[in-house]
Amino acid sequence: MAPTLHPHFATPKGHREWRGHWGRRQASWRRRLDSWRCVREDFMVSLSIGSLQLASPVVLAPMAGVTNMPFRVLCRELEQEKTGTVSGLYVCEMITARALVEGNEKTLHMTTFAPSEQPRSMQLYTVDPEYTYKAARKIVEENLADHIDMNFGCPVPKVTRRGGGSALPYKRRLFGKIVAAAVRATEGTDIPVTVKFRVGIDDEHHTHLDAGRIAVEEGAAAVALHARTAAQRYSGEASWEEITRLKEHLAHTGIPVLGNGDIFKASDASAMMQQTGCDGVVVGRGCLGRPWLFAALSAELRGEPVPSEPTLGEVVRIMIRHATLLMEHDGEAKGARDMRKHIGWYLRGFPVGGEVRAQLSSMNSLDDLKRILAPWADSPVLAEDAEGPRGRKGSPAKVVLPEGWLDDPFDLTVPEGADLMHSGG
Ligand SMILES: Cc1cc2nc3c(=O)[nH]c(=O)nc-3n(C[C@H](O)[C@H](O)[C@H](O)COP(=O)(O)O)c2cc1C
Repeated sequence: MAPTLHPHFATPKGHREWRGHWGRRQASWRRRLDSWRCVREDFMVSLSIGSLQLASPVVLAPMAGVTNMPFRVLCRELEQEKTGTVSGLYVCEMITARALVEGNEKTLHMTTFAPSEQPRSMQLYTVDPEYTYKAARKIVEENLADHIDMNFGCPVPKVTRRGGGSALPYKRRLFGKIVAAAVRATEGTDIPVTVKFRVGIDDEHHTHLDAGRIAVEEGAAAVALHARTAAQRYSGEASWEEITRLKEHLAHTGIPVLGNGDIFKASDASAMMQQTGCDGVVVGRGCLGRPWLFAALSAELRGEPVPSEPTLGEVVRIMIRHATLLMEHDGEAKGARDMRKHIGWYLRGFPVGGEVRAQLSSMNSLDDLKRILAPWADSPVLAEDAEGPRGRKGSPAKVVLPEGWLDDPFDLTVPEGADLMHSGG
């Protein structure tokens, strides 16, 4: 069945008549797709978030332990190499506001951006208006970033148990105060504040419509919805219809709504934008072991030819580049350890045997990596089934909350101990 175009797409900038023509002729799916491509030509290619002008509406999702500087640089390099431009937004792994304020060494290292990274996008994890304000002021005064995103989506029990992450938007007033604190701290600057959250705690406690409204009222320049509840974790399918609802809920504000969840290939991004009317896409697990995905996404959304998938030989080159960047950033030993977790993602769908994978999962240096991968350096083989779901899935689970958390959605008490962690998504 041909998907219905979201009304948001059916009436942009003078294309109504054009689309109506095809509609009346009961156009085939192919024609619908063509018309959609035409519409998007001047409609979806860019995204403005406050002062930031992005040439494509594609955002690398913040991922703790993944979207560090080396990974972001690699994604940008590959977009540049394959499309001739770097167009989207590449967000860093989450930074705990309190740890930033207190000058935690590990946290400060995580806030590093390469000179090539423009705009610099930093995500803050925070539960406390005061630390939020201080962290955002520090970002302004020390010129640490050009964009601040705020993480209210973390479903990890050790976080929600203390009222942090995806538990927090349930406390409407506290949530509003936190967003307001970041916006106040960045007043008079070009740094936009955006807010990322889930649909809610579980199906009995949806919070996304309130969270979107409150974030906009408090001055957020965009909101992003991971279309799952915290109880879903990463399981099942994201409910894109909740992105549609949020977009419709905020349409009158003109504030961009970004959709997130289950974009694993370029056509998923255009499908999400088409079906939900969202203004941009945030892409996480789909790029694990596929850092070239952003080239495909931005080309797809600009209506340009999507670059072909890399051969195993190219993937070997990309893996070596990734490891080199990690080792330059963190030293050879830590870089090698970090690289090991990417190996399985990179090699998915390629005919590389278990013994080699085992060797790679204990490699300790760049020389090790190059030596083990040498037999495939020129391989023309393409991966099988590389475009499907990947990364963590987990199973649905009851969300662990602090005692009495659901009793009063308007309670302003700052949850204790929820901001002592330094990593985690
Ligand atoms: C390994 C990993 C780490 C994550 N870390 C963060 C994080 O630091 N901040 C955040 O807002 N979301 C984090 N997330 C959630 C993603 O940003 C994204 O919302 C989620 O993966 C759904 O998008 P996807 O279906 O494209 O993966 C993380 C997800 C993964 C898989």
